[in-house]
Amino acid sequence: MPAMASPQVVAHRGASAERAEHTLGAYQVALDQGADALECDVRVTRDGHLVCVHDRRVDRTSSGRGVVSELTLPAMSRFDFAHWHHELPESADELVFEPRASAAVGAAQRRILTFDDLLGLVRAQRRRIRLFAETKHPVRYAGLVEAKLTAALARHGVSAPAHKDESPVVMMSFSSAAVRRFRADAPGVPTVLLFDRASRAVRAGELPRWADLAGPSIRLLRRDPELAGRWAARGRDTYCWTVDDPADVELCRRAGVRFVATNRPGATRLRLSGG
Ligand code: G3P
Ligand code: CA
Repeated sequence: MPAMASPQVVAHRGASAERAEHTLGAYQVALDQGADALECDVRVTRDGHLVCVHDRRVDRTSSGRGVVSELTLPAMSRFDFAHWHHELPESADELVFEPRASAAVGAAQRRILTFDDLLGLVRAQRRRIRLFAETKHPVRYAGLVEAKLTAALARHGVSAPAHKDESPVVMMSFSSAAVRRFRADAPGVPTVLLFDRASRAVRAGELPRWADLAGPSIRLLRRDPELAGRWAARGRDTYCWTVDDPADVELCRRAGVRFVATNRPGATRLRLSGG
């Protein structure tokens, strides 16, 4: 049996165990640590900008308060998105990147990050980096986020890749309606359907035709390590989230997962390269 390719490392919200999630600082650390790809969550502001924020509100991850869709980008730009996060890894064993002194971390690295800026960062890299973008609030703003994302991809010249494997962007959602809409808006861009529970058909290997990759939680894969193999037998790769525990990284490697989303891209990279 041929050796399985090692999974690619996707930095979940950046190197978010070591830096404040979704900040430029977190993504720069992830790239320095050798991440193959970056993951981000995308929401729309009141004035129509796509920003990288996980929660509905900014309270947990910034010095400000409020709901993303009710705030303007200029208002959010005044908030510090890194003040809440410890700068150092929890223990010396986890130190895989030399942290900068707090004062040296520039203001730009702590500010609200727009999707345009993150895609710009990805496109500016000399090596090939992918961006896995997950749309949030797909029901309340049905179609708006996907349409804005497609427009952003067009602005960056990446909305119609020659081949899906060459696409620098991969679109994801837990909402099948959102994935289907994105497929209709940008048919050449690969899609991931995320899930934490799966129907019997999906567990048997059947995925909807508009989802290129299966996106199970690590919980599902722990319960049924053969899942990725069944999807692979039908020509579908697996993107698994969120894989921080060394035993889970090993499970993904053995199961033939193609992409592992992790908050610890440096440590995961080392583990997968046998370090
Ligand atoms: O990469 C998928 C994963 O991010 C989904 O969960 O809550 O972290 O967005 P969440
Ligand atoms: Ca996410």
